[in-house]
Amino acid sequence: MDNALILLTTAILFCAIIFCYKVIVMSSRRRWHQSPLLQLEVPPGSLGWPFIGETIEFVASAYSDRPETFMNKRRHMYGKVFKSHIFGSPTIVSTDAEVTKFILQSDAKTFVPSYPKSVTELMGKTSILLINGSLQRRIHGLVGSFFKSPQLKAQITQDMQKYVQQSMECWGDDRPILIQDEAKNIAFQVLVKALISLDPGKGMEFLKKQFQEFIVGLMSLPINVPGSRLHRSLQAKNRMSKFVKNLIKSKRDKGRIISTVAQDVVDVLLNDPNEQLTDDLIADNIIDMMIPGEDSVPVLITLAVKYLSDCPAALQQLTEENMKLKRSKAKLGEQLSWNDYLSLSFTQDVITETLRMGNIIIGVMRKAMRDVKIKGYSIPKGWCVLAYFRSVHLDETNYEWPYQFYPWRWQHKEMMTSSNFTPFGGGQRLCPGLDLARLEASVFLHHLVTQFSWKAEDDTVVNFPTVRLKRRMPIWVKRR
Ligand code: HEM
Repeated sequence: MDNALILLTTAILFCAIIFCYKVIVMSSRRRWHQSPLLQLEVPPGSLGWPFIGETIEFVASAYSDRPETFMNKRRHMYGKVFKSHIFGSPTIVSTDAEVTKFILQSDAKTFVPSYPKSVTELMGKTSILLINGSLQRRIHGLVGSFFKSPQLKAQITQDMQKYVQQSMECWGDDRPILIQDEAKNIAFQVLVKALISLDPGKGMEFLKKQFQEFIVGLMSLPINVPGSRLHRSLQAKNRMSKFVKNLIKSKRDKGRIISTVAQDVVDVLLNDPNEQLTDDLIADNIIDMMIPGEDSVPVLITLAVKYLSDCPAALQQLTEENMKLKRSKAKLGEQLSWNDYLSLSFTQDVITETLRMGNIIIGVMRKAMRDVKIKGYSIPKGWCVLAYFRSVHLDETNYEWPYQFYPWRWQHKEMMTSSNFTPFGGGQRLCPGLDLARLEASVFLHHLVTQFSWKAEDDTVVNFPTVRLKRRMPIWVKRR
């Protein structure tokens, strides 16, 4: 009897929740329809279950070995732009290249970045990843032009070669080499060198340890109480921030002011001619810049090794191209420069194809600041937008055999500039680290294929919460 009562009460409660939800959703739908801008044009789709929306389906699909299922099902039912409800917000999902381009090109009056609460708490209010308007444009411009400067390119190429060489010297044929770990270690060293001119040593180890503690909090519950995951990550960030602020202070004490050539991103921000940026803002941004830079490059390298291992024809062509360059440089007795690496056209095509297939950043989230109309679709003010790159990169109307690793498709270079290819985003927030990422991957692949042949063990790509290889990509190498 008791059980029956509990069941009945639960059923009534459940129905009440569904009813309230429907009333809220229907009334808000009616409101949109009454708005002159949005008449019946909000993209079709489903808001799913009360409160949780379609998040469970989205996450389950992302975790599975067919991560396209969620998007493909809805694209089939509603078209390339549809509404959903994921991660706590009603969301318009765009898998359409033109709509995505519009979103990326828009300024902060139309769309602003939107991240889960744990991420915004960890980044802080002045992070480049969150700020908008003139301050974002200024920091973006300063960092972007530094990463493009010939002086940084020369320095980073040298550093990268040194770190790769040091790492590969220890490789033997008596144990598998975990490419993901090797690449992670090297990429972190390069990043920290570019950001704060720190060489490997105790300071670097300290930062790495704190950063690992910090980064796990990005995917945590937004509860900041002592002992919670988020709290521990914030503490790690504070320790890193203190470390970077000490470094800034010693630079200021040494009188590193306008007119000195910038050695790293801290110098660039310290020397901003327009406005004095505070030490807090600089330190926070240095740490926040590690977020997009730290994981993405190692994953790019690891995926390239995975795809090459599965495609012998591409591996052979890549090896021949790199061997040729190595021989010609050895004859001249010269070191390889940034431009040498980028002149390896097939190697670049391999990296481009890896970016397309790998979708290291699956998409970007924004929030609409006003009612927006794009290509006949309406996005109501306050709604989130997920510009989902992955579906565009794997759409067979954009790419023939989209699931096949086929670097030769990039011999038609014009494809790279089309809106069908946005691994680094676009518009005002286009990734300032894109050249650096390509260079790091080129240097790693060059040294790998010119010094070793290898046999890869089986491994699978995991796509959620971040892209990575399940077994960290073990390979057995043999020195050439
Ligand atoms: C394969 C490697 C990489 C990929 C796929 C990648 C991808 C992206 C994407 C898609 C965005 C745009 C985010 C948005 O629009 O909200 C972005 C922004 C950014 N990336 Fe990268 N990135 C990579 C490497 C790097 C590296 C090495 C750095 C070096 C520090 C870096 C620094 C940044 C920064 C600072 C932003 C924010 C720019 C802004 O909002 O103004 N990225 N990246």
